[in-house]
Amino acid sequence: MKPIKKAVFPVAGLGTRFLPAAKAIPKEMLPIVDKPLIQFAAEEAVAAGIDVLIFIVGRNKGSIPDHFDKAFELETKLAGDNKHDILNIVRNVLPSHVDCVYIRQAEAIGLGHAVLCAQPVIGDEPFAVLLPDDFIDAPDNCCLRQMIDIYNHNHCSILGIEQVARETVNRYGIIDSVPVSNRLSKINAIVEKPPVDQAPSNLAVVGRYILTPRIFDLLKQTKHGAGNEIQLTDGIAKLLKEEIVLGHQFTGKRFDCGNKLGYLQATVEMALQHPELKQDFGMYLQDLIGKGI
Ligand code: G1P
Repeated sequence: MKPIKKAVFPVAGLGTRFLPAAKAIPKEMLPIVDKPLIQFAAEEAVAAGIDVLIFIVGRNKGSIPDHFDKAFELETKLAGDNKHDILNIVRNVLPSHVDCVYIRQAEAIGLGHAVLCAQPVIGDEPFAVLLPDDFIDAPDNCCLRQMIDIYNHNHCSILGIEQVARETVNRYGIIDSVPVSNRLSKINAIVEKPPVDQAPSNLAVVGRYILTPRIFDLLKQTKHGAGNEIQLTDGIAKLLKEEIVLGHQFTGKRFDCGNKLGYLQATVEMALQHPELKQDFGMYLQDLIGKGI
């Protein structure tokens, strides 16, 4: 059994829901308080034992490699000014044993295609996929860790799932499944963004996946699907005809930071946990509520 050491971050999307903010900076660089979304996802992967981060980038995503790189000028200035606390934050964006690899996806033609772009670096190993838009607040950043623990017992593909409101099923990959245990189910079928009246359930796939390398061959055979894109969901639909695929209802709270409301909710909740801000920001919110907003 090969351990899971590599994670893919598909970040080539255009971020049209966040224009004009995402015109010149990637939406994955938008901060939740003071840390960009992409860094939260990278930290979650590292906390799960991943040591190779593979970013599938497009044009205008140059600030992502810059963020994870050494910032020589800034570090020299902070060191010269004896600002060691801030220097540590800048230097320790990732631990030194972690490697970053950047692959260009020439056209944003779907999540399945983005994952396929990682094959030359992943080879014949199981791997993780994290969608940074799905920000998951869990103790010790442990969502992916939970899934890797399950992989280590079951040695099969695992998808992060959660129940969503029925009227929102057309935004997600939706599964048909049978329960195996409290939080685990065996997936029988999966469909991308079904109309509300055709959805097999209200169990949605969120942006955390562990996949066996068989997915690559299947993605190569996958034709354009929903939204005229090569969908990861369609590749997984083929995979589960050949191999067991499990769904895990993770513990933790997910925020859909691909839309403005979810992004604001994550920002407010993380500000209320932030050591420097929680007290003042909490008082500010109480004051606003007291005034009936
Ligand atoms: C993608 C996947 C979808 C999944 C969702 C989770 O959709 O295609 O199956 O449920 O992420 O956030 P997107 O949000 O990129 O449209």
